[in-house]
Amino acid sequence: MEAVLNEEIKRLSGKGLRESCLARGLPAVAALTEKINRLKKEKNAIVCAHVYQTPDIICGVGDIIGDSYKLADDSRKMAADIIIFCGVRFMGETAKILNPSKQVYIPSRNAGCSLSESVNAEDVRKLKARYPGLPVVTYINTSAEVKAESDCVVTSANAEKILRRLYRKNEKIIFIPDRFMGANLAKVLGKTPGKDIILWQGSCVVHEKFNAAVIGLYRKNYPGLAVLAHAECPSDIINAVDFMGGTGDMLHYIENTNATAYLLVTECGFGELARIRFPQKNFIAMCRLCPYMKSITLESILDVLENPRPELEVSVPPEIAARAKKSIEKMFELAE
Ligand code: 13P
Ligand code: SF4
Repeated sequence: MEAVLNEEIKRLSGKGLRESCLARGLPAVAALTEKINRLKKEKNAIVCAHVYQTPDIICGVGDIIGDSYKLADDSRKMAADIIIFCGVRFMGETAKILNPSKQVYIPSRNAGCSLSESVNAEDVRKLKARYPGLPVVTYINTSAEVKAESDCVVTSANAEKILRRLYRKNEKIIFIPDRFMGANLAKVLGKTPGKDIILWQGSCVVHEKFNAAVIGLYRKNYPGLAVLAHAECPSDIINAVDFMGGTGDMLHYIENTNATAYLLVTECGFGELARIRFPQKNFIAMCRLCPYMKSITLESILDVLENPRPELEVSVPPEIAARAKKSIEKMFELAE
């Protein structure tokens, strides 16, 4: 048993996990990850993990790691029977919609999302009645019911590209639910909120609270600093940064630039991942935790594998799933 544990500690170290990036020691993490990985094999299960998850989950048990787009896209090609989704509910729902015959579990009952909870299907129906004929473009951070009422889903990785394409044929578009992302996209596209783009008043509890004034202070103290912010941030933040995008784009930017340091204006977990992926680069993470993402732990993943309780299994009524799938597939088509 000790040899198995030592082997697992070695494997985790090889993946870049260090005591300094863990809330507890490597042996305690290894005991859990070894068990989880063994059970995954026995049950033909796969773990999908969003980049905001903790390093013990990402490096220890994650099979597919990425932003919302990669997780949705890759979930179309999975051979496993069981998908354990370490992310928030809308991500698990998307995986279920794309894989109706597989069992999808989210190892927490608290993995919601403030954006997703800001809008429901009835709200979208009312918007459509108020603005008949306008296409409804919906950020992936929404429930299956909301996607079912929409024309096209987008993620932070493709929203700009898809909106550009849709504006070729439409003068005005409804964009839900993130008012900040909508306003940021409107600025990039030269569109006016209220006139060319109808926005919903949703926001992300993590990104809405960053302080733009701090960015100037960091720039003074770190010459050559690159400042990156997630597109869910308010526009005063976006006006002060060098790069706006989703988490996948931000990783790409870091990989392809050589700044003296990177200030990351997004959820804390992203900074932990960046330090592991790029150990030779310097990062300053403006630390705000997503309480929903962080409600998943190694223990809750192990629990779902040992004792898969029905309340943790994701289910989407077939009629809703069929309509939501159309708007998700529209995204895959337009993101090409
Ligand atoms: P990404 O798709 O950029 O990873 O964003 C998901 C999210 O929830 C950000 O808060
Ligand atoms: Fe939702 Fe914000 Fe958490 Fe992302 S960080 S899952 S948008 S609450």
